[in-house]
Amino acid sequence: MSKEDIIFKYIEDEAKRQREGIELIASENYVSENVLKAMGSILTNKYSEGYAGKRYYGGNEYVDDIERECISRAKELFKAEHVNVQPYSGSPANLAVHYAFLKPGEKTMGMDLSAGGHLTHGFKVSLTGKYFDSVSYGVNREGYIDYNEVRKIAKEHKPKLIWSGFTAYSRIVDWNEFRKIADEVGAILVADIAHVAGLIVGGEYPSPVDIADVVTTTTHKTLRGPRGAMIMCKEEYAEDIDKAVFPGLQGGPHNHVTAGIAVALEEASTKEFKEYIKQVVKNSRVLSDALIDRGFTIVSGGTDNHLFLIDTVKSVDMGGQEVSDMLEKIGITLNKNSIPFDERKPWDPSGVRIGTPAITTRGMKESEMVKVAEYIDRLLRDSSEKNIELIKREIEEFTEDFPIPGIDNL
Ligand SMILES: Cc1ncc(COP(=O)(O)O)c(C=O)c1O
Repeated sequence: MSKEDIIFKYIEDEAKRQREGIELIASENYVSENVLKAMGSILTNKYSEGYAGKRYYGGNEYVDDIERECISRAKELFKAEHVNVQPYSGSPANLAVHYAFLKPGEKTMGMDLSAGGHLTHGFKVSLTGKYFDSVSYGVNREGYIDYNEVRKIAKEHKPKLIWSGFTAYSRIVDWNEFRKIADEVGAILVADIAHVAGLIVGGEYPSPVDIADVVTTTTHKTLRGPRGAMIMCKEEYAEDIDKAVFPGLQGGPHNHVTAGIAVALEEASTKEFKEYIKQVVKNSRVLSDALIDRGFTIVSGGTDNHLFLIDTVKSVDMGGQEVSDMLEKIGITLNKNSIPFDERKPWDPSGVRIGTPAITTRGMKESEMVKVAEYIDRLLRDSSEKNIELIKREIEEFTEDFPIPGIDNL
């Protein structure tokens, strides 16, 4: 077998893994066949540095059409004044926002990683925490954002940028409260909706788009598009943002991804997508409740969105890594995650994060969530080889009834 061929075998192997497993990673999803088609297209051949109508390369007539259409769909769907669809992914999008507004050493403020914030909101190991002076806020003992605490920290440090939004927080963010705090200290308010973008367009989560100055999002999580990102902002910040993305941070946009985002945005505007998102949130609640019924401890006691955290130390006296490794043996994938006030280190934390966007795309509903909770519980209570083999086979059979879009036409 040539080297070129073996990659396709590996892709087949991965398809089998996806088909036979239960995907609980909260930031993952399965895109549609049309999104796959756009991403796998000849658009990847083209260089298009610049923006529509102002490119540094020839031959961009049709790429301009695609980028303009993508922007127009994003504006319509999110009710945004200005949209940049070129960031390669969520992290460069967030870096571009820092670059647009801050000089090195100036102050940025975001949610702490252990409370559910993202690395790129100023965490110390990230460039956003090394090149800028970052401060963070957390959650209270109940697992909720305490806005008085956020206000106190903002007043003390007077950051130029305040980040709202999260990667592992199961409750509703009060964007208006963040707006008030930002106004009180004269900060620019950014909302990172990477996790909840799909919930927002599906009507299951409040939108910060007309509240925050800038909104960033990935396109590959609940929005169910290709790996990419967008930055939305008020018109007055449009030039700063566009310049920060190109030429500030990036070169040529990934046109095949832009086309995939455009396709996903159209799909996200449908009635079917709304129903899908409703089911995602319902499934998240049912799964969290089913685990509570089986004696598991959920951070903040439950969820209002598509994800939640299990305190694995309290629930089964194991760290998140151990639980994640054990579940992988039966084909259940999730990620270890720090929990608020975690006494263990981020690489060996006290919890795992669970999300329902991917399994809901496969068509799973409430009764399947109860089964998923049962598989998790059964394995963690008896992890003998015999039980692993038994549950693994059950899960392979169970997943047969829930197809993944496009996976059989690779
Ligand atoms: C809130 C949030 N912002 C940004 C990112 C970064 O996105 P990416 O992994 O595409 O760089 C993530 C990814 O997990 C995220 O959850």
